[in-house]
Amino acid sequence: MEGNILIVDDEEVVIKSCERILTPEGYNVKGVTSARDAMEMLKNGEFDLVITDLKMPGVDGLELIHWIHKSNPRLGIVVITGYPSQESIKEALEYGIIDYLPKPFSPQLLLDVTEKAINAVKAKKEEEKPIEVADVEAKYNEIMEVIRKNKDKPGSLIPILQQTQEILGYLPPTVQRLIAKELNIPVSEVHGVVSFYSFFTMKPKGKHNLRVCLGTACYVKRANEILAKIKEVLGIEEGGITKDRKFSLETVRCLGACGLAPVVVVDHDTHGAVDPVKVEDIIKKYE
Ligand code: FES
Repeated sequence: MEGNILIVDDEEVVIKSCERILTPEGYNVKGVTSARDAMEMLKNGEFDLVITDLKMPGVDGLELIHWIHKSNPRLGIVVITGYPSQESIKEALEYGIIDYLPKPFSPQLLLDVTEKAINAVKAKKEEEKPIEVADVEAKYNEIMEVIRKNKDKPGSLIPILQQTQEILGYLPPTVQRLIAKELNIPVSEVHGVVSFYSFFTMKPKGKHNLRVCLGTACYVKRANEILAKIKEVLGIEEGGITKDRKFSLETVRCLGACGLAPVVVVDHDTHGAVDPVKVEDIIKKYE
């Protein structure tokens, strides 16, 4: 299993035995004997997990945990303690440590707790990854195949963009950069084409796409209140998409149905004379 781990313990023997147990499993392990040294290492290096003793001379483990909590909340923490029932472990748990190792611990317990902690850190990173990066990673091979098949044909950029949009549903900056790099052209050229043609979109669409008209006829009939209500109900901004990808939200300038103002279009359904208080009922129809 992969992961960069920092062991912090004033007893060198604990560091050495952790290294001996974890390194053969594929972990990259480093050790320091004080919290101060740990802070320096963490400022300069990329770590996924810190396994720290609580009781250390000088700056103790709890202070280190506070510091990590403030400076790098994404870092996983496991605590080594001889007294799992003491107040400090409760405080450490409140700071979101993943688990603790009661001293003395067996090699198997260290391996189990480390694997659990590394998995938790990876899951959190995955969750926080921008949606477009996750999308491009998931379809990377298909996109590369499209690029490979087309790149040597003249005028290949538009067909590549069209086919990539068919695969991904949209053309976010990440994929524009990838295409530019593979075609050996400036990103600005790719971006220029994507923004010029209206059939290209840079925003992901939900299963249901809501378009709120903010044209003059709709605006004077409280379209802004409708928009605010939709944002509140879905918890997204204009151009956004809900986490479950069910709904996305756009605004437009006149949908050509001014007689029905204010207008909201969901997919291909036009809702006219929309009352802000009825917004929730409209959305519920599509859930
Ligand atoms: S202004 Fe909204 S449909 Fe025309």
